[in-house]
Amino acid sequence: MEMFRIAGGTRLAGSIRVEGSKNAALPILAASVAITGNVQLEQVPKLQDVTTMSTLLQGMGVSITRGHDNTVVMNSNEITSTIAPYELVRQMRAGICVLGPLLARFGTATVALPGGCKIGHRPVDLHLQGLSALGADIRIESGNIVASARQLRGCELDLLGSHGPTVTGTCNVMVAAALAQGTTVIRNAAREPEVADLARFLNSAGANIEGQGTSVIEIQGVEQLGPVHHTIIADRIEAATLAIAAAITGGSILIENAPTEHMQSVLDILREIGVLLKQSSDGLHVSAAGQLTPIVADINPYPGFPTDAQAQLMALLTLVPGESRVTDNVFPERFMHAAELIRMGADIDVRGKSAVIRGVPSLSAAPVMASDLRASAALVLAGIAAKGVTEIRRVYHLYRGYQQFDSKLNSLGARILRVDDGPDQDSVPIPAPHWDIRNVRESCD
Ligand code: EPZ
Repeated sequence: MEMFRIAGGTRLAGSIRVEGSKNAALPILAASVAITGNVQLEQVPKLQDVTTMSTLLQGMGVSITRGHDNTVVMNSNEITSTIAPYELVRQMRAGICVLGPLLARFGTATVALPGGCKIGHRPVDLHLQGLSALGADIRIESGNIVASARQLRGCELDLLGSHGPTVTGTCNVMVAAALAQGTTVIRNAAREPEVADLARFLNSAGANIEGQGTSVIEIQGVEQLGPVHHTIIADRIEAATLAIAAAITGGSILIENAPTEHMQSVLDILREIGVLLKQSSDGLHVSAAGQLTPIVADINPYPGFPTDAQAQLMALLTLVPGESRVTDNVFPERFMHAAELIRMGADIDVRGKSAVIRGVPSLSAAPVMASDLRASAALVLAGIAAKGVTEIRRVYHLYRGYQQFDSKLNSLGARILRVDDGPDQDSVPIPAPHWDIRNVRESCD
């Protein structure tokens, strides 16, 4: 098991590029099973989640080859299975994104219900409601979603959940509707750029989708989706993470390909804190040399401040003098990182779906534990800013969503070392109790 050993106290400087968006790539890879013919994708990031999605698709018979420069070529004409097994879906919830595409193209799908995770309950009821509205028959059997549909038919449907729209739910329904008979109108659709990128991908394959990026998406179903060549959009969450890395270290960096058109709420909050931001043809210049100001930040569905940058923002706010408040309206329990930041000397009170952060003069190094993808990123940023050497265990979470994150930060002046930490303490086998079957059988008889 790997851990990061970070010698903190360096200011980041230099220029860096972000990869293609994980959260655009995953639904687009999944949607490829609805495409007849070749799919060529550019800017597919080299991430654990992309590998897991590829394994899931190859298990269905999809051929996938990775070229150089983050290119991927796929073909789903020889599909042999429409099953997405639990052992893969439990590793990566986005595995559920194959549900709509499989139903649309093959009329059948068996997809493991994704479990919960550290950031919240993660229901999929809206996915199932949307697909049922299109005419799918959906049953839950032994932890699997068993879905079938002789013919999907367009309809009007609403995807608003108690915490706002659903990103991957909108993706699933949009792909299914692309091959349904008739017109579908999705109300309260997710407006995320990653959903819009999926729509552009589908339209390049012959779909007829309008309104992507707004809360009302209209889809005219077509007979078939054909070959497509598509470039994945840049990752706005990676860009936000790197911008916050510059800010928390009082550094000055240039993010050459930052998708600033998708980052307005992040840029607004950083400016409000006092981070200096300058957009030019070279990219996004981020620096933070002066006094920073505490803020009240509401985390909301796009175009609001993204929940996937909430942990990183909290790390920054631990060093901003005064009292800040962060309220996560998307994943109200997404505060696992707070306890670890407190171990590093942060002053944080988590109260329901809000956290109150009182700035401290400095963070101090400590051994900490990553719990999920974005919490890992937050701890790395805190480690770079802290005095001393911070050790972060379970950094495998980070590899799910950031390509060569340590190398990128080291190229900007961070001092991160990957160290083998031996077996995960929690996975050291505890001898199972000795069950005497005879006794058990007698007690059952
Ligand atoms: C996507 O997850 C992202 N993942 C998440 O990024 C991101 O945090 C999330 O959207 C919110 O922006 C991918 O795109 C692969 P949701 P998703 O369905 O689609 C509730 C990361 O770090 N809800 O938009 O699973 C849900 O509980 C990951 O990159 C229902 O109630 O999230 C949540 O409160 C983490 N019923 C809210 O909606 C449903 O059927 C938003 O969830 C579905 C969701």
